Order: sequence, then C-alpha cells, then structure tokens
Amino acid sequence: MISLRNMTYFYPGEELPALKNINLDVGENEFLVILGRNGSGKSTLARLLNGLLLPIQGKVEVDGWNTADADKLQLIRQRVGLLFSNPDNQLISNQVEEDVAFGPENLGLKRSEIRQRVSDSLQQVSMEAYRKAAPAFLSGGQKQKVAIAGVMAMKPRYLVLDEALSMIDPRGKSEIIESIRCLHKNKGVSLIMITHDLEEARGADRVVVLGEGEVKAISTPGELFPLRRLLLALGLEPLEISNIIEEINSRGISFGRNILEMDKLVEEICRFI
Ligand SMILES: Nc1ncnc2c1ncn2[C@@H]1O[C@H](COP(=O)(O)OP(=O)(O)OP(=O)(O)O)[C@@H](O)[C@H]1O
Ligand SMILES: [Mg+2]
Repeated sequence: MISLRNMTYFYPGEELPALKNINLDVGENEFLVILGRNGSGKSTLARLLNGLLLPIQGKVEVDGWNTADADKLQLIRQRVGLLFSNPDNQLISNQVEEDVAFGPENLGLKRSEIRQRVSDSLQQVSMEAYRKAAPAFLSGGQKQKVAIAGVMAMKPRYLVLDEALSMIDPRGKSEIIESIRCLHKNKGVSLIMITHDLEEARGADRVVVLGEGEVKAISTPGELFPLRRLLLALGLEPLEISNIIEEINSRGISFGRNILEMDKLVEEICRFI
C-alpha cells in the first residue's frame, strides 16, 4: 500500500503549497485515477509517490517504507514505476528493444530474463514489430508505448502514469489500459493513472479529484461522472454522454441522469419513445 498522511508540499521559494494536507491510501491491486485541472497538483503528487520529491510536512510510505528514508529510496523507486507525458525525455537508446532492456539491465538480471521481459512488455503495448526500430522515427504515441513497455519491464508493484497516454490514438489507448488492467488483475499491479480525460477513467475503482492542491473528491466513476455541475466547477470536462443527457433534460424531459454508456442511453430513449 502507498499511504500519504497529512502530506504538504511547497516548491522552494513558493508561498502557497502545491499540495496541502493530503490523506490518501492506494491499495494493492487498485486502479486509481487522479483527475484535476491544470496546475491542481497532479504531477507534484506523482513525484511524491516515489520519492522524487519529499514532503515538507506529513509523510509518504510505500509498503511501510518512508520515502524520506534515503536507505529505502532505491527499493521504493523499483516498486513505484513513474512515467510522464513526454516520451522524448525517457527514451535514451537508438533501438526500441535496447531502450526497454535498459531498466532491467540496471537491475542486474540474467540475459534470458531480460529478453523475456523485453518481449513480454513490447507485446503488452503492441509494439513487437518495432523492436529493431529507432525511437526517433516513431510517432509520439508509439514513443509513449515504448516508454510504457520500459516501465512495465521493471515489474513495478505500483505503476504511475502521468498523462503518459496523451499522444496515443483512442483505440491504442483502450488497448493499453486493457493490458495494464490485465497486469493489475493477474499480477496484483496497482495502476495510478493521472489524466484530465474522464474517458480514460471509466474503468477505475476509485477517482480522486485534486483542485488547488487539495483533495476535492474521492469517489467512483459511477457516482462522480453523472455530477456534471460539480465536474465543471472542478475544471473537468464531463463525458460527452452526460452533455447529451443534459441537453435532453433541458427540454423538460427527465430521464437518464446516471447513465454513462451510449448503448444504455439508446435503450432508454427507445423505451421512452
Ligand atoms: N518546479 C516548480 N517550481 C515552482 N512551482 C511549481 C513547479 N512545478 C509546479 N509548480 C506549481 O505547482 C502547482 C501544481 O503543479 P503540477 O505540475 O503538479 O500540476 P498538474 O495538475 O500536474 O498540472 P497539469 O495538468 O498542467 O500537468 C502549480 O501551481 C504549478 O505552477
Ligand atoms: Mg501535470
């Protein structure tokens, strides 16, 4: 479990905290989504989860290890895989497979184990065909997929993806979320996904909404996503389907407020007609 207790963080020289008194637990095997408008503190939180930043007040513990304990930092970083949105900062080799192998090589694993991890990870993001390619010639979305494979190959227990799917096309995005969820179900990997796209958060167990450095809501997609006004007030774009339902309701017809899937809405409309 990752647990944050009364955790406050200030960037050096700043008067206002980037994160204020955060209390949050991320369970093993959980798919947690962190939502929030620009500047709400999402990336700062990501950096605190694996000790890249340390709390000014309160604490962050990963499986009982305090991130402020320098002796445990290497173990913590191995357990908490962290990936940001710009893949150019994370790809370093001239060949896709070398890049994915980089992390496992640093763990000092056997060659056969490294080979296995590289091919499994590339398969999980549907990039096996590009294993000999040069990352520089890939599209943004393909680079993001390779970067994800690189983190997966480290076999972290917690995988934190900070807008790390932003350049991948919608179909590729759902495939990757599906394959990470598979890891999550079969291997007990927790997924912490940071995004402002509610579509990516549909399958989450829990959703945390940050606003001005504070936790504004902790809920499930089923409970939170129909609350269109609240989402707008928190700077989030409601799902397209919620906009359609709002439009229908604004014409004096009252139904479907909690529906989140298009096929269910169509069924409801047919029943209404
Ligand atoms: N290196 C830094 N030094 C000072 N202030 C910073 C630094 N990085 C971020 N901040 C500030 O901390 C707050 C939280 O920023 P953060 O990057 O965590 O937000 P975010 O939710 O990830 O935003 P975005 O959606 O744009 O990625 C913002 O007010 C931001 O300006
Ligand atoms: Mg950010």
